[in-house]
Amino acid sequence: MRAAVYSRFGPPEVLTLRQVPKPEPRDDEVLIRVRAMTVTSAECAMRRGEPLWGRVVLGFRRPRRRMRTLGTELAGEIERVGAKVTRFRPGDEVFAFTGFRLGGNAEYVCLPQRASLAPKPVNLGFEEAAAAVDGASTALYFLRRSGLRRGHKVLVYGASGSIGTYAVQLAKHFGAHVTAVCGPANAAFVTGLGADAVVDYTKEDYGGRGELYDIVFDTLGKSSFSQARPALTRDGRYASTTGLRSTFLSLATAMSRGRKVVTGMSIDKNDSLPFLKNLIEAEELRVVIDRRYTFDQLAEAHRYVETGHKRGNVVVTIPW
Ligand SMILES: NC(=O)c1ccc[n+]([C@@H]2O[C@H](COP(=O)([O-])OP(=O)(O)OC[C@H]3O[C@@H](n4cnc5c(N)ncnc54)[C@H](OP(=O)(O)O)[C@@H]3O)[C@@H](O)[C@H]2O)c1
Repeated sequence: MRAAVYSRFGPPEVLTLRQVPKPEPRDDEVLIRVRAMTVTSAECAMRRGEPLWGRVVLGFRRPRRRMRTLGTELAGEIERVGAKVTRFRPGDEVFAFTGFRLGGNAEYVCLPQRASLAPKPVNLGFEEAAAAVDGASTALYFLRRSGLRRGHKVLVYGASGSIGTYAVQLAKHFGAHVTAVCGPANAAFVTGLGADAVVDYTKEDYGGRGELYDIVFDTLGKSSFSQARPALTRDGRYASTTGLRSTFLSLATAMSRGRKVVTGMSIDKNDSLPFLKNLIEAEELRVVIDRRYTFDQLAEAHRYVETGHKRGNVVVTIPW
């Protein structure tokens, strides 16, 4: 089978499509024929070997052998199942998150039946299903951890990105009033997703508007707790998807009264995928795809994602 392999950190050109052995499912694993995958900002950073502290996991001088094929979210068809698999059958169409195993940039992937894996929404093709995994479940994870409730005022920073487009829609679904922070070209777009108010990050600092929010959700890690603080209610939450600093601040604020920093990693998506599937099938959640590439254009997809200006998700398909 073909897989995208990289053996040194660097620009998109380090990714090469190679023939590698097709994996064999163990007793508790399923073998998925991958039909679509995404390219995320997080994977572009891994390819570059960033942030530097991330190399504790990725490998110090070069990527660890078992992490040389990137790819975290995918959709496809189950081709075979191991002897002890009870949750899935050959022919099932699934969407999945590989997590720290990575390996999704390949024609076949093996995953344990208890991994972040679920039947894909019936009303989505493989491309949309692949793009409905990480951004959506990460948005859900942070909104839940921030204690989102009906009637809350929520500000989503980076509303036009993958996590952001889902965060706007999910916060609206849960009955919040949503302010979206995005660039001028995306104002009408995020309003179409349900945002009640829009702040243009190129013109205005959301922290200085005199509005108060129960949750400021920084989906990109480009804002900060000090920027958010004046815009938070007395026991408001600043949720951030990235950074060691956020981890430190979440520990520090957990021990004090008042405003808190929420951070973490959305890794186990076993519960959230069926929840998202139901929302998508009820047409309560839309998947936004910016661009589509084929597998042999993977490096080109990385180049585009790396601009930092994708809208929603970028999908790579494997034609069969
Ligand atoms: N903690 C976790 O579990 C977890 C899980 C997944 C991802 N992550 C992290 O989450 C981050 C975001 O991922 P993502 O995939 O959602 O991002 P993304 O889709 O790559 O974000 C792209 C969007 O960001 C907007 N943008 C760029 N600069 C901006 C700024 N200064 N202010 C407001 N918007 C700006 C762009 O709009 P314009 O074109 O208008 O600039 C673009 O639409 C990554 O760093 C990733 O590592 C964390």
